[in-house]
Amino acid sequence: MARILVGVTGGIAAYKACTLVRLLVRAPHDVYPIVTEAAARFVAPETFFALARTTPRRDAYPHLERADLLVVAPLTANTLARLAHGLADDVLTEAALAHDGPVVVAPAMNVRMWQHAATQANAEILRQRGVVFVGPAEGELAEGEVGPGRMAEPEEIAEVVARELAGASPRASSSLAGRRVLVSAGGTREQLDAVRFLGNRSSGSMGVAVAEEARRRGAEVTLLAANLAVPVPTGVTVVETPTAADIEREALARADADVVIMAAAVADYRPAAPETAKRAKDGSSWTVELTPTTDVLAALGANRTDRQVLVGFAAESAGNGLERAREKKVAKSADLIVFNDIGRSDIGFDTAENEVVLVSNGAEQHIAKAPKRRIAAAVLDEVERIMATR
Ligand code: CTP
Repeated sequence: MARILVGVTGGIAAYKACTLVRLLVRAPHDVYPIVTEAAARFVAPETFFALARTTPRRDAYPHLERADLLVVAPLTANTLARLAHGLADDVLTEAALAHDGPVVVAPAMNVRMWQHAATQANAEILRQRGVVFVGPAEGELAEGEVGPGRMAEPEEIAEVVARELAGASPRASSSLAGRRVLVSAGGTREQLDAVRFLGNRSSGSMGVAVAEEARRRGAEVTLLAANLAVPVPTGVTVVETPTAADIEREALARADADVVIMAAAVADYRPAAPETAKRAKDGSSWTVELTPTTDVLAALGANRTDRQVLVGFAAESAGNGLERAREKKVAKSADLIVFNDIGRSDIGFDTAENEVVLVSNGAEQHIAKAPKRRIAAAVLDEVERIMATR
Protein backbone atom coordinates (compact mmCIF):
# COMPACT_ATOMS: atom_id res chain seq x y z
CA MET A 1 0.00 0.00 0.00
CA ALA A 2 1.33 3.41 -0.97
CA ARG A 3 0.36 6.88 0.17
CA ILE A 4 -0.94 8.85 -2.82
CA LEU A 5 -1.88 12.52 -3.08
CA VAL A 6 -4.60 13.04 -5.69
CA GLY A 7 -4.75 16.63 -6.92
CA VAL A 8 -7.98 17.60 -8.66
CA THR A 9 -8.10 20.86 -10.60
CA GLY A 10 -10.99 22.72 -12.15
CA GLY A 11 -12.42 21.14 -15.24
CA ILE A 12 -15.44 19.17 -16.30
CA ALA A 13 -13.26 16.03 -16.14
CA ALA A 14 -13.12 16.44 -12.34
CA TYR A 15 -16.04 13.99 -12.16
CA LYS A 16 -13.77 11.31 -13.68
CA ALA A 17 -11.30 11.89 -10.83
CA CYS A 18 -13.91 10.31 -8.54
CA THR A 19 -13.42 7.02 -10.40
CA LEU A 20 -9.64 7.43 -10.17
CA VAL A 21 -9.84 7.88 -6.39
CA ARG A 22 -12.03 4.77 -6.13
CA LEU A 23 -9.60 2.70 -8.23
CA LEU A 24 -6.63 3.83 -6.13
CA VAL A 25 -8.45 3.14 -2.86
CA ARG A 26 -9.38 -0.32 -4.13
CA ALA A 27 -5.78 -1.10 -5.20
CA PRO A 28 -5.50 -0.66 -2.12
CA HIS A 29 -3.72 2.63 -1.51
CA ASP A 30 -3.98 5.27 1.13
CA VAL A 31 -5.35 8.25 -0.82
CA TYR A 32 -5.45 11.90 0.23
CA PRO A 33 -7.35 14.26 -2.11
CA ILE A 34 -6.34 17.86 -2.67
CA VAL A 35 -9.17 19.64 -4.47
CA THR A 36 -8.59 23.15 -5.80
CA GLU A 37 -11.24 25.84 -5.44
CA ALA A 38 -11.92 25.72 -9.17
CA ALA A 39 -12.44 21.95 -9.01
CA ALA A 40 -14.89 22.37 -6.14
CA ARG A 41 -17.18 24.20 -8.60
CA PHE A 42 -17.55 20.89 -10.47
CA VAL A 43 -17.45 18.27 -7.70
CA ALA A 44 -17.70 18.92 -3.97
CA PRO A 45 -14.47 18.12 -2.08
CA GLU A 46 -16.54 16.05 0.37
CA THR A 47 -17.20 13.56 -2.45
CA PHE A 48 -13.47 12.90 -2.86
CA PHE A 49 -12.87 12.62 0.87
CA ALA A 50 -15.80 10.19 1.20
CA LEU A 51 -14.47 8.06 -1.67
CA ALA A 52 -10.97 8.17 -0.16
CA ARG A 53 -12.45 7.21 3.22
CA THR A 54 -10.61 10.03 4.93
CA THR A 55 -11.26 13.53 6.24
CA PRO A 56 -9.55 16.83 5.40
CA ARG A 57 -6.57 17.70 7.56
CA ARG A 58 -7.39 20.64 9.76
CA ASP A 59 -3.86 21.63 10.77
CA ALA A 60 -1.79 24.39 9.20
CA TYR A 61 0.30 22.03 7.09
CA PRO A 62 -1.97 19.98 4.79
CA HIS A 63 0.52 20.63 1.98
CA LEU A 64 3.29 18.86 3.89
CA GLU A 65 1.39 15.56 3.80
CA ARG A 66 4.12 13.02 2.96
CA ALA A 67 3.36 10.75 0.03
CA ASP A 68 4.94 8.15 -2.25
CA LEU A 69 3.35 9.66 -5.36
CA LEU A 70 1.44 12.73 -6.47
CA VAL A 71 -1.11 12.42 -9.27
CA VAL A 72 -2.96 15.43 -10.65
CA ALA A 73 -6.07 14.56 -12.65
CA PRO A 74 -7.50 16.49 -14.33
CA LEU A 75 -4.66 18.98 -14.75
CA THR A 76 -5.76 22.32 -16.17
CA ALA A 77 -3.55 24.55 -18.33
CA ASN A 78 -3.38 26.99 -15.45
CA THR A 79 -2.15 24.50 -12.86
CA LEU A 80 0.20 22.95 -15.43
CA ALA A 81 1.80 26.40 -15.81
CA ARG A 82 1.91 26.92 -12.05
CA LEU A 83 3.60 23.54 -11.53
CA ALA A 84 6.13 24.23 -14.29
CA HIS A 85 7.13 27.53 -12.71
CA GLY A 86 7.09 26.45 -9.09
CA LEU A 87 4.28 28.73 -7.91
CA ALA A 88 2.89 27.93 -4.49
CA ASP A 89 -0.37 29.85 -4.32
CA ASP A 90 -2.74 27.11 -3.17
CA VAL A 91 -2.50 23.88 -1.21
CA LEU A 92 -2.03 21.72 -4.33
CA THR A 93 0.91 23.69 -5.75
CA GLU A 94 2.43 23.97 -2.27
CA ALA A 95 2.10 20.22 -1.85
CA ALA A 96 3.68 19.69 -5.28
CA LEU A 97 6.70 21.77 -4.25
CA ALA A 98 7.06 19.92 -0.98
CA HIS A 99 6.69 16.50 -2.66
CA ASP A 100 9.86 14.54 -3.37
CA GLY A 101 8.88 11.55 -5.49
CA PRO A 102 7.12 10.49 -8.68
CA VAL A 103 4.52 12.81 -10.18
CA VAL A 104 1.87 11.70 -12.68
CA VAL A 105 -0.38 14.21 -14.43
CA ALA A 106 -3.40 13.84 -16.69
CA PRO A 107 -3.98 17.12 -18.53
CA ALA A 108 -7.48 18.05 -19.65
CA MET A 109 -8.21 21.25 -21.50
CA ASN A 110 -9.42 22.73 -24.75
CA VAL A 111 -7.39 21.46 -27.71
CA ARG A 112 -6.17 24.93 -28.64
CA MET A 113 -5.04 25.59 -25.07
CA TRP A 114 -3.14 22.26 -25.05
CA GLN A 115 -1.52 22.99 -28.38
CA HIS A 116 -0.54 26.56 -27.49
CA ALA A 117 3.22 27.07 -27.46
CA ALA A 118 3.11 28.28 -23.85
CA THR A 119 1.39 25.09 -22.64
CA GLN A 120 3.68 22.87 -24.70
CA ALA A 121 6.75 24.65 -23.29
CA ASN A 122 5.40 24.25 -19.74
CA ALA A 123 4.68 20.56 -20.37
CA GLU A 124 8.24 20.11 -21.63
CA ILE A 125 9.63 21.72 -18.46
CA LEU A 126 7.68 19.22 -16.39
CA ARG A 127 8.73 16.26 -18.57
CA GLN A 128 12.36 17.29 -18.25
CA ARG A 129 11.85 17.22 -14.52
CA GLY A 130 10.61 13.63 -14.74
CA VAL A 131 6.88 14.27 -14.48
CA VAL A 132 4.96 11.51 -16.26
CA PHE A 133 2.12 12.57 -18.57
CA VAL A 134 -0.91 10.41 -19.27
CA GLY A 135 -2.79 11.79 -22.25
CA PRO A 136 -4.48 14.04 -23.09
CA ALA A 137 -6.53 11.75 -25.26
CA GLU A 138 -7.86 12.63 -28.69
CA GLY A 139 -11.57 12.90 -29.17
CA GLU A 140 -14.59 15.10 -28.92
CA LEU A 141 -14.20 17.62 -26.12
CA ALA A 142 -17.00 18.80 -23.83
CA GLU A 143 -17.27 22.06 -25.78
CA GLY A 144 -17.76 20.19 -29.07
CA GLU A 145 -14.28 20.65 -30.58
CA VAL A 146 -12.21 17.65 -31.62
CA GLY A 147 -8.53 16.96 -30.89
CA PRO A 148 -6.17 16.14 -28.04
CA GLY A 149 -7.45 17.61 -24.79
CA ARG A 150 -9.62 14.99 -23.11
CA MET A 151 -8.43 13.60 -19.83
CA ALA A 152 -7.14 10.03 -20.10
CA GLU A 153 -9.46 7.39 -18.67
CA PRO A 154 -9.14 6.81 -14.90
CA GLU A 155 -8.20 3.15 -15.53
CA GLU A 156 -5.24 4.21 -17.66
CA ILE A 157 -4.12 6.78 -15.08
CA ALA A 158 -4.36 4.18 -12.30
CA GLU A 159 -2.24 1.82 -14.40
CA VAL A 160 0.48 4.44 -14.88
CA VAL A 161 0.38 5.21 -11.16
CA ALA A 162 0.90 1.49 -10.42
CA ARG A 163 3.79 1.33 -12.88
CA GLU A 164 5.45 4.41 -11.39
CA LEU A 165 5.10 3.07 -7.88
CA ALA A 166 6.65 -0.22 -8.96
CA GLY A 167 9.48 1.63 -10.73
CA ALA A 168 10.30 3.87 -7.77
CA SER A 169 13.01 2.02 -5.93
CA PRO A 170 11.69 0.42 -2.77
CA ARG A 171 15.13 0.88 -1.30
CA ALA A 172 15.07 4.61 -1.95
CA SER A 173 16.44 6.93 0.69
CA SER A 174 18.94 4.64 2.39
CA SER A 175 20.47 2.05 0.06
CA LEU A 176 23.44 4.30 -0.78
CA ALA A 177 23.73 5.92 2.65
CA GLY A 178 27.34 6.65 3.54
CA ARG A 179 28.54 6.22 -0.06
CA ARG A 180 30.29 8.97 -1.98
CA VAL A 181 28.97 9.19 -5.52
CA LEU A 182 30.60 11.38 -8.17
CA VAL A 183 28.53 12.15 -11.26
CA SER A 184 29.52 14.21 -14.29
CA ALA A 185 26.75 15.71 -16.42
CA GLY A 186 26.28 18.02 -19.37
CA GLY A 187 28.48 18.76 -22.34
CA THR A 188 31.86 20.47 -22.31
CA ARG A 189 32.68 23.61 -24.29
CA GLU A 190 36.18 24.04 -25.65
CA GLN A 191 37.31 27.58 -26.37
CA LEU A 192 37.92 28.56 -30.00
CA ASP A 193 38.34 32.25 -29.32
CA ALA A 194 37.09 34.78 -26.76
CA VAL A 195 33.42 34.19 -27.64
CA ARG A 196 33.21 30.93 -29.59
CA PHE A 197 33.43 27.36 -28.47
CA LEU A 198 33.20 23.79 -29.72
CA GLY A 199 30.39 22.07 -27.84
CA ASN A 200 27.83 19.32 -28.10
CA ARG A 201 24.10 18.84 -27.63
CA SER A 202 24.11 17.25 -24.20
CA SER A 203 21.71 19.08 -21.82
CA GLY A 204 22.85 17.18 -18.75
CA SER A 205 19.37 15.87 -17.93
CA MET A 206 20.46 12.21 -17.81
CA GLY A 207 23.42 12.88 -15.48
CA VAL A 208 21.31 15.17 -13.31
CA ALA A 209 18.66 12.44 -13.02
CA VAL A 210 21.37 10.02 -11.88
CA ALA A 211 22.71 12.52 -9.31
CA GLU A 212 19.20 13.15 -8.04
CA GLU A 213 18.39 9.45 -7.72
CA ALA A 214 21.71 8.78 -5.92
CA ARG A 215 20.85 11.53 -3.46
CA ARG A 216 17.37 10.07 -2.97
CA ARG A 217 19.08 6.82 -2.01
CA GLY A 218 21.05 8.60 0.67
CA ALA A 219 24.42 9.03 -1.05
CA GLU A 220 26.72 12.00 -0.60
CA VAL A 221 26.67 13.26 -4.18
CA THR A 222 29.05 15.57 -6.03
CA LEU A 223 27.92 16.71 -9.46
CA LEU A 224 30.51 17.89 -11.96
CA ALA A 225 28.34 20.24 -14.02
CA ALA A 226 29.35 21.01 -17.60
CA ASN A 227 27.09 23.76 -18.97
CA LEU A 228 23.83 22.26 -17.77
CA ALA A 229 20.65 23.26 -19.59
CA VAL A 230 18.55 21.83 -16.75
CA PRO A 231 18.27 22.94 -13.12
CA VAL A 232 20.75 21.48 -10.65
CA PRO A 233 19.23 19.15 -8.07
CA THR A 234 19.00 20.18 -4.43
CA GLY A 235 21.04 18.40 -1.79
CA VAL A 236 23.94 17.78 -4.16
CA THR A 237 27.37 19.47 -4.14
CA VAL A 238 27.80 21.13 -7.52
CA VAL A 239 31.22 21.86 -9.02
CA GLU A 240 31.18 23.81 -12.28
CA THR A 241 33.34 22.08 -14.89
CA PRO A 242 32.72 23.79 -18.24
CA THR A 243 35.67 22.26 -20.14
CA ALA A 244 37.20 18.80 -20.57
CA ALA A 245 40.26 19.98 -18.62
CA ASP A 246 37.99 21.07 -15.73
CA ILE A 247 36.27 17.69 -15.64
CA GLU A 248 39.64 15.93 -15.78
CA ARG A 249 41.05 17.96 -12.88
CA GLU A 250 37.96 17.78 -10.64
CA ALA A 251 37.21 14.11 -11.36
CA LEU A 252 40.76 12.95 -10.72
CA ALA A 253 40.81 14.97 -7.48
CA ARG A 254 37.80 12.90 -6.34
CA ALA A 255 38.88 9.57 -7.83
CA ASP A 256 38.51 7.88 -4.43
CA ALA A 257 34.69 8.10 -4.59
CA ASP A 258 32.82 4.82 -4.01
CA VAL A 259 30.93 5.24 -7.27
CA VAL A 260 31.88 7.35 -10.29
CA ILE A 261 29.36 7.85 -13.06
CA MET A 262 30.66 9.66 -16.13
CA ALA A 263 27.47 10.79 -17.85
CA ALA A 264 28.97 14.00 -19.28
CA ALA A 265 29.66 14.31 -22.98
CA VAL A 266 33.33 15.22 -22.68
CA ALA A 267 35.01 16.67 -25.75
CA ASP A 268 37.46 14.26 -27.34
CA TYR A 269 39.32 17.16 -28.95
CA ARG A 270 40.02 20.78 -28.08
CA PRO A 271 41.45 23.61 -30.22
CA ALA A 272 45.23 23.37 -30.02
CA ALA A 273 45.71 27.13 -29.83
CA PRO A 274 42.54 28.97 -28.80
CA GLU A 275 42.60 32.65 -29.68
CA THR A 276 42.34 34.94 -26.70
CA ALA A 277 40.54 37.74 -28.56
CA LYS A 278 37.46 37.44 -30.75
CA ARG A 279 38.58 36.47 -34.20
CA ALA A 280 37.44 39.00 -36.80
CA LYS A 281 36.29 37.69 -40.16
CA ASP A 282 38.65 38.38 -43.04
CA GLY A 283 36.95 36.53 -45.88
CA SER A 284 39.39 33.64 -45.87
CA SER A 285 38.79 30.21 -44.40
CA TRP A 286 39.65 29.42 -40.81
CA THR A 287 41.46 26.20 -40.13
CA VAL A 288 41.52 25.03 -36.55
CA GLU A 289 43.82 22.34 -35.33
CA LEU A 290 42.35 20.10 -32.66
CA THR A 291 44.36 18.12 -30.17
CA PRO A 292 43.02 15.15 -28.19
CA THR A 293 41.84 15.66 -24.62
CA THR A 294 42.44 13.17 -21.83
CA ASP A 295 39.88 10.40 -21.71
CA VAL A 296 38.79 10.98 -18.13
CA LEU A 297 36.89 7.70 -17.80
CA ALA A 298 39.92 5.75 -19.05
CA ALA A 299 42.21 7.68 -16.67
CA LEU A 300 39.90 6.87 -13.77
CA GLY A 301 39.77 3.25 -14.92
CA ALA A 302 43.58 2.98 -15.06
CA ASN A 303 43.89 3.98 -11.39
CA ARG A 304 40.74 2.53 -9.92
CA THR A 305 40.44 0.26 -6.92
CA ASP A 306 38.54 -3.02 -7.06
CA ARG A 307 36.01 -1.69 -4.59
CA GLN A 308 35.01 1.30 -6.69
CA VAL A 309 32.12 1.04 -9.15
CA LEU A 310 32.99 2.89 -12.34
CA VAL A 311 30.27 3.70 -14.86
CA GLY A 312 30.52 5.23 -18.32
CA PHE A 313 28.02 6.16 -20.97
CA ALA A 314 28.40 5.32 -24.64
CA ALA A 315 26.58 7.56 -27.06
CA GLU A 316 26.65 5.82 -30.42
CA SER A 317 24.84 6.47 -33.67
CA ALA A 318 26.25 3.70 -35.85
CA GLY A 319 24.72 0.24 -36.27
CA ASN A 320 27.48 -1.52 -34.36
CA GLY A 321 26.94 0.73 -31.30
CA LEU A 322 26.36 -2.03 -28.83
CA GLU A 323 29.54 -3.80 -29.90
CA ARG A 324 31.48 -0.55 -29.46
CA ALA A 325 29.93 -0.06 -26.02
CA ARG A 326 31.20 -3.52 -25.02
CA GLU A 327 34.66 -2.60 -26.26
CA LYS A 328 34.60 0.71 -24.32
CA LYS A 329 33.79 -1.14 -21.12
CA VAL A 330 36.94 -3.23 -21.45
CA ALA A 331 39.16 -0.45 -22.83
CA LYS A 332 38.24 1.97 -20.02
CA SER A 333 38.16 -0.66 -17.21
CA ALA A 334 34.57 0.29 -16.36
CA ASP A 335 32.13 -1.97 -14.53
CA LEU A 336 29.14 -0.75 -16.46
CA ILE A 337 28.56 1.08 -19.71
CA VAL A 338 25.17 2.64 -20.35
CA PHE A 339 24.65 2.33 -24.09
CA ASN A 340 22.55 5.04 -25.64
CA ASP A 341 21.54 4.89 -29.32
CA ILE A 342 21.75 8.54 -30.36
CA GLY A 343 20.86 7.67 -33.94
CA ARG A 344 17.21 7.87 -32.81
CA SER A 345 15.52 11.25 -32.39
CA ASP A 346 12.89 10.19 -29.84
CA ILE A 347 15.38 9.39 -27.08
CA GLY A 348 18.69 10.68 -25.76
CA PHE A 349 19.72 14.28 -26.51
CA ASP A 350 17.16 17.03 -25.90
CA THR A 351 14.42 14.61 -24.92
CA ALA A 352 12.88 13.75 -21.59
CA GLU A 353 13.03 10.02 -22.21
CA ASN A 354 15.74 7.52 -22.87
CA GLU A 355 16.11 3.86 -23.76
CA VAL A 356 19.37 2.17 -22.94
CA VAL A 357 21.21 -1.11 -22.69
CA LEU A 358 23.18 -1.67 -19.50
CA VAL A 359 26.38 -3.44 -20.52
CA SER A 360 27.69 -4.92 -17.30
CA ASN A 361 29.91 -7.82 -16.28
CA GLY A 362 28.63 -10.75 -18.26
CA ALA A 363 25.07 -9.41 -18.39
CA GLU A 364 23.31 -7.05 -20.75
CA GLN A 365 20.01 -5.56 -19.75
CA HIS A 366 17.70 -3.67 -22.07
CA ILE A 367 15.80 -0.88 -20.30
CA ALA A 368 12.68 0.04 -22.26
CA LYS A 369 11.92 3.65 -23.16
CA ALA A 370 11.10 5.55 -19.97
CA PRO A 371 11.54 8.96 -18.32
CA LYS A 372 15.20 9.62 -17.51
CA ARG A 373 14.40 9.39 -13.79
CA ARG A 374 13.41 5.74 -14.29
CA ILE A 375 16.51 5.05 -16.38
CA ALA A 376 18.62 6.61 -13.60
CA ALA A 377 16.99 4.27 -11.09
CA ALA A 378 17.81 1.26 -13.29
CA VAL A 379 21.46 2.40 -13.60
CA LEU A 380 21.75 2.75 -9.82
CA ASP A 381 20.02 -0.59 -9.22
CA GLU A 382 22.77 -2.14 -11.35
CA VAL A 383 25.47 -0.16 -9.49
CA GLU A 384 24.11 -1.49 -6.21
CA ARG A 385 24.02 -5.03 -7.59
CA ILE A 386 27.70 -4.75 -8.57
CA MET A 387 28.54 -3.29 -5.14
CA ALA A 388 26.90 -6.25 -3.45
CA THR A 389 29.22 -8.64 -5.30
CA ARG A 390 32.35 -6.91 -3.95
N1 CTP B 1 34.67 10.29 -21.72
C1 CTP B 1 35.62 10.82 -20.87
N2 CTP B 1 36.57 11.66 -21.36
C2 CTP B 1 36.62 11.97 -22.67
C3 CTP B 1 35.64 11.43 -23.55
C4 CTP B 1 34.68 10.59 -23.04
O1 CTP B 1 35.59 10.54 -19.68
N3 CTP B 1 37.55 12.79 -23.10
C5 CTP B 1 33.67 9.39 -21.16
C6 CTP B 1 32.25 9.88 -21.26
O2 CTP B 1 31.88 10.60 -20.11
C7 CTP B 1 31.47 8.58 -21.37
C8 CTP B 1 32.41 7.65 -22.06
O3 CTP B 1 33.71 8.21 -21.92
O4 CTP B 1 31.18 8.04 -20.10
C9 CTP B 1 32.14 7.38 -23.52
O5 CTP B 1 32.16 8.52 -24.28
P1 CTP B 1 31.94 8.47 -25.87
O6 CTP B 1 32.12 9.85 -26.39
O7 CTP B 1 30.68 7.76 -26.18
O8 CTP B 1 33.06 7.55 -26.33
P2 CTP B 1 34.56 7.82 -26.63
O9 CTP B 1 35.37 6.97 -25.71
O10 CTP B 1 34.87 9.25 -26.63
O11 CTP B 1 34.73 7.17 -28.07
P3 CTP B 1 34.16 7.66 -29.47
O12 CTP B 1 33.99 9.14 -29.40
O13 CTP B 1 35.18 7.20 -30.41
O14 CTP B 1 32.87 6.94 -29.64
